[in-house]
Amino acid sequence: MCPPKHFTVEYAINPWMDTTVPVDAVLALKQWEILRDTLGDLGHQVHVLDAVAGLPDMVYAANGAFSVDGTVYGARFRHAERSAEADAHREFYATQGWSFAGPQHINEGEGDFAYLPAAYGGMVLAGYGFRTDPAAHAEAQEVLGRPVVSLRLVDPAFYHLDTALAALDDRNVTYYPGAFSAASQRVLAQLFPDAVHADRADAEAFGLNLVSDGRHVILNTEAMAMGDKLRAAGYLPVHVDLSELKRGGGSVKCAVAELRG
Ligand code: ARG
Repeated sequence: MCPPKHFTVEYAINPWMDTTVPVDAVLALKQWEILRDTLGDLGHQVHVLDAVAGLPDMVYAANGAFSVDGTVYGARFRHAERSAEADAHREFYATQGWSFAGPQHINEGEGDFAYLPAAYGGMVLAGYGFRTDPAAHAEAQEVLGRPVVSLRLVDPAFYHLDTALAALDDRNVTYYPGAFSAASQRVLAQLFPDAVHADRADAEAFGLNLVSDGRHVILNTEAMAMGDKLRAAGYLPVHVDLSELKRGGGSVKCAVAELRG
């Protein structure tokens, strides 16, 4: 995770970003700290990356890389405003001794990649249409040695895979079908017949932008209806208020890069 120390909305690269509405920096940091502490209280170790001045979106740490079984596939951002973030993440993995593969193709890390270790022996789901180049999906498959299934995102409000789909545990997902092309919806229905389906309101509340440990599912406070659906499916929703991060077009998942060692 990376604290929102320099978080602002000073450019707009997704439909959620409104440069005319100021961000409450104090509140943003307080909300982020509660998310960090919630993860810690649930027994997770949180590494914190230093925020870099001039990189206001760095709080969305999920975009910096994608790791599977100790191998890291680095990010290469679509927009120049964020491109320098990739170096900070690369340096983190280097100092921690991870095997790191630098990308040729544009991809925004966990923003567009999800991993299901127990689905079909270990499967990567990958989004494209707005940020990540589909060529990066093939590159990720070569780097990680896991099948990568490409899914086309069609709604600009859900510009990253992690705004429209999330892993709930090692084998199952939740997603909002309307964020995907008709063909990609068919692919998801075939692969995940037991998926928890979300609706547009759930996705707009950033209820799919969640982090799950397989039992506890951490999600935005606004997404109460989504929490009810998860509880009905046997999970334990844990709500945290990330209203300020939503102004940049992100929530829980965007703020957390999961380390799969
Ligand atoms: N403002 C950031 C952007 O548009 C938000 C990134 C959200 N991160 C995510 N993993 N969906 O790039």
